[in-house]
Amino acid sequence: MSVTVRVPAKVNVQLAVGAARPDGFHDLANVFLAVGLYDEVTVTPADGLRVTCAGPDAGQVPLDRTNLAARAALALAERYDRSAAVHLHIAKDIPVAGGMAGGSADGAAALLACDALWGTGASRAELLEICAELGSDVPFSLVGGAALGTGRGEKLRPLEVGGTFHWVFAMAGRGLSTPAVFREFDRLAEGRDVPEPVASQDLLDALAKGDPDALAAAVSNDLQPAALSLFPELAGTLAAGRAAGALTALVSGSGPTTAFLARETESAARIAEALRASGTCRTVRTASGPAPGATVVFA
Ligand code: C5P
Repeated sequence: MSVTVRVPAKVNVQLAVGAARPDGFHDLANVFLAVGLYDEVTVTPADGLRVTCAGPDAGQVPLDRTNLAARAALALAERYDRSAAVHLHIAKDIPVAGGMAGGSADGAAALLACDALWGTGASRAELLEICAELGSDVPFSLVGGAALGTGRGEKLRPLEVGGTFHWVFAMAGRGLSTPAVFREFDRLAEGRDVPEPVASQDLLDALAKGDPDALAAAVSNDLQPAALSLFPELAGTLAAGRAAGALTALVSGSGPTTAFLARETESAARIAEALRASGTCRTVRTASGPAPGATVVFA
């Protein structure tokens, strides 16, 4: 008996970052959009807790108890007095350390899979609470769609989306550490007043209308200068996508994946081809959003 959960990646169409808080985190106005690139986590009863991973980036995935999937199983087991004696297998398609919440996705998927396997009867609110303990982006991976995240990004308000947005993602040759990008943000902000993060009404309207041109005009990512400072070659990838006709080009979250918005699937395919030919990135994928959150696909 096993349970498989499919879980999407995300792109941040707005990432407004406030000053560092006393606890080291930053208050955010974080507009998440789930996109159709998926990991699948399968949980099977076993003698003890074990994590395996398959996929092109599998070699970079930690298989010990620091993996968010393992931490999710342990957190749920502790709360519901179960044994976390399970094998968690991650079929990984979301880039690792890419700014697309791949680790968070696996945490949310493992939580939902273990919950289904053990029949805990946990409420959605309880699952979301555990997600927030696991990491700032984990609650969004559970809910999917589009949402505004405030606080550390873990307090979610679902957003209406009036259409499908077509994206191209360029994966870089190496990862970026999220804490390192936030530290670089702090360094670049030294001596400046950092405004309170606020969601852009123009951006929320563009999402609600499903209007890609309006969305392109409104996207922003306050972590982008920090990501570019640590990874200057990303500027070349962004320029290549813009030259290929992307409506907008931005770093996804803390990067280094770059995201390019297209008006429809044909132009997305053209931009993807141009990015592949540019030699400025490792791989290129197309995906559309919003995509559903973590979902049991096999039980
Ligand atoms: O919450 P999560 O574990 O994903 O965060 C990883 C790191 O990213 C944190 O340790 C912190 O350095 C940084 N972070 C932050 N402010 C946030 C979210 C994350 O500074 N709102």
